[in-house]
Amino acid sequence: MKGVVLAGGLGSRLHPLTKVTNKHLLPVYNRPMIHYPIRTLINAGIDDIMIVTGGNSAGDFLKLLGNGKDFGLKHLDYTYQEGEGGIADALSLVEHFADDGPVCVVLGDNIIEGNIHRAAEDYRRQGRGAKILLKKVHDPQRFGVPELEGEKVLRIEEKPEFPKSDFAVIGVYFYDSSVFDVIRTLEPSQRGELEITDVNNHYIREGTMTWNELEGWWTDAGTFESLLRATNLVAETGANNESVEVKGNES
Ligand code: DAU
Repeated sequence: MKGVVLAGGLGSRLHPLTKVTNKHLLPVYNRPMIHYPIRTLINAGIDDIMIVTGGNSAGDFLKLLGNGKDFGLKHLDYTYQEGEGGIADALSLVEHFADDGPVCVVLGDNIIEGNIHRAAEDYRRQGRGAKILLKKVHDPQRFGVPELEGEKVLRIEEKPEFPKSDFAVIGVYFYDSSVFDVIRTLEPSQRGELEITDVNNHYIREGTMTWNELEGWWTDAGTFESLLRATNLVAETGANNESVEVKGNES
């Protein structure tokens, strides 16, 4: 399975920090933000990785990461997203890289305390469809929120005013190669983006979506509050700790 880190978009919620540089190059405690999602993939045994950059300072990703030597990699792939067309738009750019195989996608501003190794193993066995990871949060309105019936996900709502559960869909997704055909059917949302939630709802309707619950803390880092929270969490406990594992497979 190949890995993808989505680090496009314009990071406008972090202006003026992102006026001259890319959000994912900003520091989270003692590392640039993009280091954490790359480590998430590597800890899951995924070492064939493409970074989707965009916005300002795209060349700085090359300066920072090169061929991934700091992570023990021999090679990293890169591509560039024009504008801010949404997470699914950024994902559409990796179709040739995926080469008809499955992908694990991590949002460039998502940081986890533990690891997703078990979820990746479960998804390898699953063989088709998609998998998402859920985490209980106190502010689900900020995220994609699943409506659950027992263990079954009925659908996901993006940033609902009245959330149907207190789970967030975190920014780590597993997809089979049909994801690119799904993205081709999408229309931009009210915020003008191709939404990853619409992709996930497609797999739910098709009956091929499974989920795991993440163990350990999870945070995004795309607002001033969450960037500060991410920094404090990493300083207190460290991130990408291999002994903190996701809970068993649910569907
Ligand atoms: O953090 C998890 C949440 O991420 C999910 O719960 C939501 O369902 C999902 O839509 C997303 O919500 P946000 O609105 O917080 O996503 P944001 O626009 O901050 O983008 C997150 C990352 O995705 C960003 O750090 C880089 C990548 N991205 C985003 C956009 C809009 C791109 O690569 N290209 C883009 O055009």
